[in-house]
Amino acid sequence: METESIYGNYEKVLPDVLARFCSELEVLNTQTRAKTGEGIYEHLISRVKSDESMREKCARRDLPATCRSALREITDAIGVRVITRFIEDIHEIAAYIGSLPDVEIVREKDYIRNAKPNGYRSYHMIVAYKAPWEDIDGQVPGVYYIEIQLRTIAMDSWASLEHQLKYKKNIRNQKLIVAELKRCADELAGCDLSMQTIRNLIRSAGADGEGKEG
Ligand code: GTP
Ligand code: MG
Repeated sequence: METESIYGNYEKVLPDVLARFCSELEVLNTQTRAKTGEGIYEHLISRVKSDESMREKCARRDLPATCRSALREITDAIGVRVITRFIEDIHEIAAYIGSLPDVEIVREKDYIRNAKPNGYRSYHMIVAYKAPWEDIDGQVPGVYYIEIQLRTIAMDSWASLEHQLKYKKNIRNQKLIVAELKRCADELAGCDLSMQTIRNLIRSAGADGEGKEG
């Protein structure tokens, strides 16, 4: 016997909403590549939260396991993670997203300026995205929430390692590992700043005259 998806009738449109939003990001990437020779992001991953994870999250938040909880109370049924090479690219992408006519920013969390105590860094946005499909309130175009995480490659590699640790509770040296991870996050943040400075230097050198020395 098959139980119905927590997303109900909206299960089918969520991937379409996600694809539509990602295609808007691809437009920026293509534009930037035409201008500078390099895309604005390194890569992008996206997902619709699985039925199981969404039910688990509802339980964790003491919400009934309903379609309304999944699409209106919880705002990350649709998630996009954009990985950039440089910090400034993150702010450029965030500004672009905010400027899209179909996007309304609901919430932004700047874990780059304000890193979490464990060292986690990323720029988070929750947006309300207007798409041509009817939503749970019967509106057309419909409004769908999307969670966007913007990070550099360095921030992403750190988050991925730290994420592994979360599933390894009760391990030896936990305290030391947490402290080392924090130190590593701060070192990576220093590297991200240096990399940005190097790129700025390369760009301004290029603007002075190609191939000229000094
Ligand atoms: P949930 O954590 O999803 O319940 O939402 P929240 O309201 O706490 O939002 P927040 O912006 O803090 O986190 C959203 C997502 O960011 C998480 O689901 C993770 O994917 C990521 N994230 C936040 N904090 C950390 C962290 O300390 N380490 C790692 N690896 N990822 C994090
Ligand atoms: Mg959280």
